[in-house]
Amino acid sequence: MARFHRLAVARVAPAAEDAVAVTLALPDALRAAFAHVPGQHVTVRHGDIRRTYSIASPVGAEALTVGVRHVPGGAFSTHATRALAAGHALDVLPPAGRFTLRPRPGHFAAITGGSGITPVLSMAATLLATEPGARFTLLRSDRSAASAMFLDEVADLKDRHPGRFQALHALTREERHAGLPTGRLDEARLKELLPALLNVADVDGWYLCGPLGLTGAGRAALRALGVRRERVHTELFHVGDAPPVAAGAPAAAGDTGATLTATLEGRRASWPVVPGETLLSAVLRNRPDAPWACRGGVCGTCRARLTDGRVRMDRNYALEEPELAAGYVLACQARPLTDRVDLDFDA
Ligand code: FES
Repeated sequence: MARFHRLAVARVAPAAEDAVAVTLALPDALRAAFAHVPGQHVTVRHGDIRRTYSIASPVGAEALTVGVRHVPGGAFSTHATRALAAGHALDVLPPAGRFTLRPRPGHFAAITGGSGITPVLSMAATLLATEPGARFTLLRSDRSAASAMFLDEVADLKDRHPGRFQALHALTREERHAGLPTGRLDEARLKELLPALLNVADVDGWYLCGPLGLTGAGRAALRALGVRRERVHTELFHVGDAPPVAAGAPAAAGDTGATLTATLEGRRASWPVVPGETLLSAVLRNRPDAPWACRGGVCGTCRARLTDGRVRMDRNYALEEPELAAGYVLACQARPLTDRVDLDFDA
């Protein structure tokens, strides 16, 4: 089971007007544990909160850099952007996440919004440096040029890999004299823009990363352009409040009581689920080492396989169709629908 490691902060540098790039030193003894696949994130623990941040640095870099954007009122992002400095230390879980691009020949494309550029930067930089037969096209969207993270790093990729890296930048709230007209990248605009930018059918993998509006528009546009679903990978940043439970949704058995049996790190035990709580809450009361980060159905850290019983998930922005079909659920969003449910966190 992954556990937290204390890493020294080597550098905190501005990544945009309201964001920083935090670089963590990796001692030799932890290099293997912190080796990442491009697109993955790490979880940072700060007091009793946890936050996941995508890795911006390419595979093979000496240190690990994550991008942190300031969120108004955000406990860790405020600390990171205002107070964190070289010489401090952070408790960090090794890289995780299934929004990944393993270098291979082909043409890959990304649509990013805001801090969604962070994991895509690691993907593009690693791919272009290690796979001569690969190309990458980036369509990024930001409020303004000043708020755009990692502008220099993206420009550097253009200089280093002319002909294999193409980037187009849309600004949603700032007028420009050249480039794309100002405005949101909604479905209609993407349906026009993407075929003009590249041969859509020629792309081997699409990577969408950003807020719900942009990733939803991207998925819809790609579907309309005939792209097969298994070629489209999504990672969501910034989800609003949980939607209300759909009218007519079945009542959860947890409202009257259910028994959860969970397997974690090879140990299996059963506990009651307190009415109204999620399965993750029931597990954490008894096994504080259970995996979690966002508790919002976004990061996928609490993924477990349902091996018996049925559950209802309040929301799911992390699991894709094949995982759902294989029986995976998000424990932080799952509520029991049957008297007994069985979860396997090791599966
Ligand atoms: S803890 Fe992030 S999806 Fe459950």
